[in-house]
Amino acid sequence: MSPKVLIETAPPGMDDPPPKPVVVSSAKPQSRTRFVSAAVLAVEVAWLIVQSIFMILDAVYHAIKPNEGKDLTGKLVLITGAGHGLGKEISLQFARQGCRVVCVDINKVGNEETVREILQEAEKANMPGNGRPRVKGYICNVADRKKVQELALLVTKEMGEVDILVNNAGILTEHSFRDATPEEIDLTINVNFTSHFWTIQSFLPYMLKRNSGHIVAIASVASFIGVANFSTYSATKFAVEGLMSSLHEEFRSKQKDIKLTTIHPYFINTRPDLIKGWHHRLPLITPDRVASAVVRGVRRENVSVTIPKFLFYLLAFSRFFPQSVIDIWRDVFYTHITPPNKLPGAQVFSNGVANGIAGKKEL
Ligand SMILES: NC(=O)c1ccc[n+]([C@@H]2O[C@H](COP(=O)([O-])OP(=O)(O)OC[C@H]3O[C@@H](n4cnc5c(N)ncnc54)[C@H](O)[C@@H]3O)[C@@H](O)[C@H]2O)c1
Repeated sequence: MSPKVLIETAPPGMDDPPPKPVVVSSAKPQSRTRFVSAAVLAVEVAWLIVQSIFMILDAVYHAIKPNEGKDLTGKLVLITGAGHGLGKEISLQFARQGCRVVCVDINKVGNEETVREILQEAEKANMPGNGRPRVKGYICNVADRKKVQELALLVTKEMGEVDILVNNAGILTEHSFRDATPEEIDLTINVNFTSHFWTIQSFLPYMLKRNSGHIVAIASVASFIGVANFSTYSATKFAVEGLMSSLHEEFRSKQKDIKLTTIHPYFINTRPDLIKGWHHRLPLITPDRVASAVVRGVRRENVSVTIPKFLFYLLAFSRFFPQSVIDIWRDVFYTHITPPNKLPGAQVFSNGVANGIAGKKEL
């Protein structure tokens, strides 16, 4: 049917110019277009549902019967914050997988200790080095963009192109929001978050060139839920999650073979000095448990890993409920932090952390 043409006429006796004809398109073709696009959408959604069912079944099957994942033998892995705690354990566990390891830390003593332990283990296990250095330590402040760029050039020259980058270095800054100083806030953001930009931007070009590589970010359960007296830290971990999720979306279509894994551990018993101020209903987890989950996550190319796993489901499920319900559950399954400067007679760290970033300060 052809469009209707309406001509509005001015009331008689008025001198206005004659009105222009107003074309009003018929409603029929428009509703046909709408019907077609709704039908296309319905088919797409139906197809999505079918695919999703298969993907869910596949995920359930792999959860029941997990596979070993890809072999990491000979891969070059760079771990930041390798000189202590989780980073040290991750370095040891990648080395046990037959990987060559680059240990990076701001703390020389701790980093050298990790390198020494890896070499000792490799010697004991009689692991062949294939003529290439099995492990090497580098001192670098990952929050310093220029230093990270220099590190990337040096590591590539001395050890080769990095296959797996593990952004682990972080500082566990604890303070009440009112006590947070600008220096603490800046430092925490720079080490825990901004450094990921510098390391990824410095090592990604080599991965893109080969169209292969894996980037791991150590986030936290505190990137899903806020924790009192941990606001700066928690905010940086939310930010890391946002960065990794955006990169996943950016790489998914064009750089399918650059893999990304974000790790979300609950509290880990790496820091006896801070643990004194942690009050929690759930037990702390050990660094070796988290490190195994990191290695497994890389082998299986998991996008996100939460340790312990049930916390992921619990936190996702909690989103269906009103905040008041979430609050009473959090009151029972509490995690409270008393900042170091609020602990009776405790040492105070000028930035809430130790390990060489800033010196300790006695009260
Ligand atoms: N400990 C926990 O409860 C816990 C829980 C979840 C996530 N995490 C995350 O795990 C990671 C490791 O934490 P951890 O408990 O092993 O801490 P840690 O303090 O035991 O070790 C951190 C290491 O990072 C190094 N480091 C700090 N700043 C650096 C910098 N600017 N440049 C280079 N190296 C630097 C330190 O020297 C240290 O060796 C962090 O990202 C942390 O946020 C920790």
